[in-house]
Amino acid sequence: MKIGVFIPIGNNGWLISSHAPQYMPSFELNKAIVLKAEHYGFDFALSMIKLRGFGGKTEFWDHNLESFTLMAGLAAVTSKINIYATAATLTLPPAIVARMAVTIDSISQGRFGINLVTGWQKPEYEQMGLWPGDDYFGRRYDYLAEYVQVLRDLWGNGRSDFKGDYFQMNDCRLSPLPQASIKVICAGQSDAGMAFSARYADYNFCFGKGVNTPTAFAPTVERMKKAADDTGRNVSSYVLFMIIADDTDELARAKWEHYKAGADQEALAWLTEQSAKDTRSGPDTNVRQMSDPTSAVNINMGTLVGSYANVARMLDEVAGVAGTAGVLLTFDDFLPGIENFGQYIQPLMSCRTATLRQLSLDAQEVA
Ligand SMILES: Cc1cc2nc3c(=O)[nH]c(=O)nc-3n(C[C@H](O)[C@H](O)[C@H](O)COP(=O)(O)O)c2cc1C
Repeated sequence: MKIGVFIPIGNNGWLISSHAPQYMPSFELNKAIVLKAEHYGFDFALSMIKLRGFGGKTEFWDHNLESFTLMAGLAAVTSKINIYATAATLTLPPAIVARMAVTIDSISQGRFGINLVTGWQKPEYEQMGLWPGDDYFGRRYDYLAEYVQVLRDLWGNGRSDFKGDYFQMNDCRLSPLPQASIKVICAGQSDAGMAFSARYADYNFCFGKGVNTPTAFAPTVERMKKAADDTGRNVSSYVLFMIIADDTDELARAKWEHYKAGADQEALAWLTEQSAKDTRSGPDTNVRQMSDPTSAVNINMGTLVGSYANVARMLDEVAGVAGTAGVLLTFDDFLPGIENFGQYIQPLMSCRTATLRQLSLDAQEVA
């Protein structure tokens, strides 16, 4: 099973709590995180794009770096780990994103890919005059389908004459071409989002579900598999989880309860309000799941809480769900979290045996 880290490009990572570590995003912090992840054999690092935060006393996500420029810097200081940036497609023309991607492909020597998002939070775009109107909720993935066709034309042939409802290219050119195929990922959960991934994405991402219910996301992966059957393509899923681990279950559980007790209610109220605004994407968009009170403190991303051994066991269960290619991990505290993952969790995971063997071969070679 592949493992990625969802790096904290925004303040405080993914815990909306005054009891969680409080920190600003910076290049230095994310560099330290990604280098540590690379050291422990993580397969990829992904940053989101967020243009407006939730406020509250923790000023949750009011402080965010920009995804492509951050990942370009990280591409330059790493050598093995794959690097993914997120394109806020309402803000950037596809021909520019195609060129930025080729630039980071060059910096990383073929380790770069893109997460395409339609945007679900209107104030992010309205504040800059780029919200196309609420009808957009219902046609987000039509827009994205045109967008990705321009990207694929340019990366494939260096030219696009695509003519659609949203984009018109006129002998648009791109050179140089990427040295490796630039993977496109998406995190569609609505029917339209999954149909998009089935047609155009290399992988689809989804939220894990619940606390210590490592296979509860399986129906989502099943939906993705069915959507991909319709297009005859193979689009596997990656699942997002937060890891809260310690020497014992009791210590890990105490941390989790402490974070929940400090939940920033004002920031959570903003999330609830925003996530209710899209009434057109059907019942399956996880945007509504995010504010479910069960574990709104980490946006209901699916949480594995326990001793190192129990977290390793749960991750092996995740790997056993057919159609799951990997996990995308967040941590309550990223630097110690990845260190403990590398030292104590990964060595106990059967689904990482091949990675561990490779890491030990690499170490022998260096010695
Ligand atoms: C791993 C992951 C990363 C995401 N990154 C972003 C992001 O950077 N910006 C954003 O606006 N939405 C992001 N989303 C939201 C998705 O793009 C998508 O809108 C959401 O999962 C709901 O699915 P739907 O669009 O099919 O309704 C992310 C979701 C997941 C699971």
